[in-house]
Formats: sequence, structure tokens, C-alpha cells
Amino acid sequence: MRIIAIANQKGGCGKTTTTVNLAVALAEKGKKTLIVDLDPQGHSTIGFGNDPDKLSPTIYDALMKAQIPISSVIIDTKIERLNLAPSNVLLSGSELELASVVGREFVLTERLKTVEDKYDICVIDCPPSLGLLTLNALVASTDVIVPVQVQYYAMEGLKQLFETANIIGKHLHPCNVKILGLLLTFVEKRRMLSSQTQKQMREYFGDLVFDTVIHRCVRLAEAPSAGQAVLTYAPESRSSAEYRALAEEIIDKVSAEQITDGKASPEQISEGEASPEQIIESQALAGR
Ligand SMILES: Nc1ncnc2c1ncn2[C@@H]1O[C@H](COP(=O)(O)OP(=O)(O)OP(=O)(O)O)[C@@H](O)[C@H]1O
Ligand SMILES: [Mg+2]
Repeated sequence: MRIIAIANQKGGCGKTTTTVNLAVALAEKGKKTLIVDLDPQGHSTIGFGNDPDKLSPTIYDALMKAQIPISSVIIDTKIERLNLAPSNVLLSGSELELASVVGREFVLTERLKTVEDKYDICVIDCPPSLGLLTLNALVASTDVIVPVQVQYYAMEGLKQLFETANIIGKHLHPCNVKILGLLLTFVEKRRMLSSQTQKQMREYFGDLVFDTVIHRCVRLAEAPSAGQAVLTYAPESRSSAEYRALAEEIIDKVSAEQITDGKASPEQISEGEASPEQIIESQALAGR
């Protein structure tokens, strides 16, 4: 089972939107897919029409209570081949509760092992922080996708995220997480700033930036209130096409890597010529 964390400690950059729609697109392409909602906000859970407060047990129970297997918290979605391990606000307690658990970084890894034969891909929606929940997600994952909202300060925090992934890869065994790609979100074609940021991201991160970008689109913001992914809410929309293209790109990238094992390591990324800080500075100067 390939496990992909959707992570960026920055809030509102498109993590949940990407988790939900990418997972639906992967399931449509025939992949048996599991979403793990690892955010106490429960937005991925709500995104499929569930009321988080009415759900029990949830991923919180699977993480914190050894007698509750993760298989017993997983629920169906209306999408064929797509299941969900839901969350609600109770999960916020586990940031603190996990701190005193032996092997606290590996709790999710252990739980997911019990369902690894049931799914081709697991997509984890991370909270907007670099706390123990995100750490558990990164340690459990084979890959990370980082949604980046194209705007000033888009690069801010990326270095810290890469360093965290790098440290995890080096010091926590067994763990071999790699950055699969950066996904540019909220792209606006006609905005100078948007294309400028996009250009800089591609110059700095090269092939690591997915070819597919996600444009700003009101359909994407509407779909969760209908309890649906945009792929079922507005299947013919541009956003649906973009998330389908992203799924395709990921499937291709993963199969190419399986042949060459050519994934970029977080270490390689931080060896670029300009630092993320320098790029932020140049963006700020350009805006003056
Ligand atoms: N491409 C887009 N165009 C328009 N609206 C979008 C787009 N992507 C996401 N949104 C909307 O922006 C808001 C933030 O997106 P989302 O919830 O996916 O971000 P997030 O990174 O998961 O946030 P958090 O850090 O709070 O978990 C949501 O209301 C979502 O519907
Ligand atoms: Mg979210």
C-alpha cells in the first residue's frame, strides 16, 4: 500500500480539498483507496456528507485505544472503492495524549499495517501544524504531497517541512518518506503574482512541482457544503479535470519511480541554489 500524506503546516492551502478530490479520482481509476482524516477539524469527514460529532468510533479511538482496530472505525463513502477513517474534535486531545506513549511517532504506522493488504493507496489529510499528528502521518507515509497556495510567502514554512521530513527519514527507522511533489493551488492565470510565483517555484524546485496545477474555482469551495467531492458535484468542471489529471500524474510518477527509484529526497531539495527565504525576499521586493 502506497501511503501519501497531504501536508503543509500552513492553513487553508488546499490539503483537504486535495485529499478528498485526489482520493475520489484515484478510486475512479480503479485504485482501492482509503482516506485517513488526521485533522481534528474533520473537514475530509464532512466533505463526504458525514456529521463528525455523530460518528463513533473514529480515528481517535483507533490511535489511542489498542483494543479498537482501525478496520472497525473505517466507513464507506458513496464512491465505489473509497473508504474513510473519519475524525472529529476528539482527535485534538491526541496531540497531548500521544506525547506520553512509548513509540509515539509510530502509532499510525502500526495501525495502518493491519489494513495494508486491503488498499492500493491511502491518502492522509494532515492538520495545519507540525505536531505529533502530522509527525505520525509523515512517519507512516511512503510519500508526501505538499499543496502550495501561489501567493506571497508561498515558500514560507516549506523549508521547515522539508527539514522535518529529512530528519524523520534519517533518524526514525523504519521510515523512508519522500516528497512526491509540490502541488500549486489557487492558481489564477490572469494574475501577475500568481504566474510569477509559479515561475519561481518551478525554477527552484524543478520537476518536483507537479505539471498539473489547481486553479482557483468556486465549484471547489461549493462542493463540501453539498457533502460531495467536486468530481461528483461538478464532474465536468475544470477542477474535476485537474484532479483527474493529478491522479494520472501521480500514478505515472509512482510507476516510473518503481522502475528507477529516482525520488527526490528532502535533502536534495534543500540543496537548491537560492534558499526559500531568498525567494520570499525577492517576491517581496518585486511587489514593492
Ligand atoms: N482551488 C480552489 N479554489 C477555490 N477555493 C478553494 C480551492 N481549494 C480550496 N478551496 C477552498 O479554500 C478553503 C481552504 O481549503 P482546504 O480546506 O482544502 O485547505 P486546508 O489546507 O485543508 O485547510 P486547513 O489548513 O484549515 O486544514 C476551503 O473553503 C476550500 O473549499
Ligand atoms: Mg484541511
